[in-house]
Amino acid sequence: MNVLVTGGAGYIGSHTCVELTEAGHTPIVIDNLSNSSPKSLERAAEICGRQIRFYEGDVRDVGLVEQIITEHNIDCVIHFAGLKSVSESVKMPLPYYRNNLESTMALCDAMTHTGVKKIVFSSSATVYSADNIMPLSESAKTGDCTNPYGWTKYMCEQILRDFAAASSERSVVLLRYFNPVGAHPSGLIGEHPNGVPNNLMPYISQTAVGKRECLSIFGDDYPTPDGTGVRDYIHVVDLAKGHVAALKYLGSHTGASVFNLGTGKGTSVRQMVAAFEQACGVTVPCKTAPRRAGDLAVCYASVDKSACELDWKAEKTIEDMCRDSWNWQKNNPNGYDD
Ligand code: NAD
Ligand code: WQD
Repeated sequence: MNVLVTGGAGYIGSHTCVELTEAGHTPIVIDNLSNSSPKSLERAAEICGRQIRFYEGDVRDVGLVEQIITEHNIDCVIHFAGLKSVSESVKMPLPYYRNNLESTMALCDAMTHTGVKKIVFSSSATVYSADNIMPLSESAKTGDCTNPYGWTKYMCEQILRDFAAASSERSVVLLRYFNPVGAHPSGLIGEHPNGVPNNLMPYISQTAVGKRECLSIFGDDYPTPDGTGVRDYIHVVDLAKGHVAALKYLGSHTGASVFNLGTGKGTSVRQMVAAFEQACGVTVPCKTAPRRAGDLAVCYASVDKSACELDWKAEKTIEDMCRDSWNWQKNNPNGYDD
């Protein structure tokens, strides 16, 4: 299939371009480079031995999106483009609502005008309400989001459900990612957050490489086995393969469907640090710090539905995630600027 990949130069998008190409699809990327480098796509092309067509532009530019769809005979869209920092969204809610909602609606307009009927959307476990029982199944309660970023995902899900309901031929897959980490095993592509990382894994690897002094563990008095927060970390290559599975699913289903992409297993902060130290042979200095506002004690997915209906399962281990993150980090301490 010819697949329009919005936000394809970003962390998850670039890994997905590799997996799409390796599965015989042709990704065509549009990205405004607001949080990425075009080098990610040059490296992705190096991995799969095939050029990836790239358009620098904004998804909100409906005319440009329509032009790309027509020129490349697009069959399906994977919509990664969006702003994703929880803390930034609290400080600057309006750019988050504008960018994430308007880009989704512009894409729906362009699809309507050009007759494209299939779309996969990057949603997040953050749409689940805080009072659910673990593991989170796709039918668990959503809403009551704790930050504007989470609300944008919740609202985009609703927009896309309505978009699917408005025409019987449309097919929408909403993928709720848990905690994507790791990098391509080649060490050529990976995640390079701007400034001080908010997320655990990049903070660990930047501490290990000496860019940060010490990891602050946000809370060690949670009701978990070692007192630190538990999350469902998923290797970005497994996550990317989940998108290839979603494309297959779209080919034989209409309407809107939702799937968790996680491993179904929880790992604590201390377990992750220990796994990283062991897998990479490095030391990660840590100190205990107060809990971070808005954090849950435990969050992990039920993966039964994606195993059954998408025929997809995460295969990589926590050790793979640590080793591949470290391989990327030590070879590219300044990301794509190296
Ligand atoms: P990323 O920032 O690396 O990639 C997003 C890409 O979208 C960037 O390359 C950015 O330049 C581009 N972009 C943003 N707005 C755009 C616009 N209006 N037009 C064109 N391009 C635009 O983020 P990522 O980690 O690869 O995440 C991809 C998607 O998955 C996002 O929608 C994110 O919210 C979602 N998601 C990410 C995580 C995570 O932990 N990384 C978890 C759940 C969901
Ligand atoms: C994981 C654990 C922290 C940093 C976020 C978003 C979510 C999704 C994925 C997009 C928690 C602890 C972290 C640090 C720490 N993104 N931690 N020290 O919060 O589960 O999810 O990213 O959709 O929406 O909220 O991930 O990596 O920030 O934290 O102790 O320096 O690590 O308290 O227990 P989180 P995270």
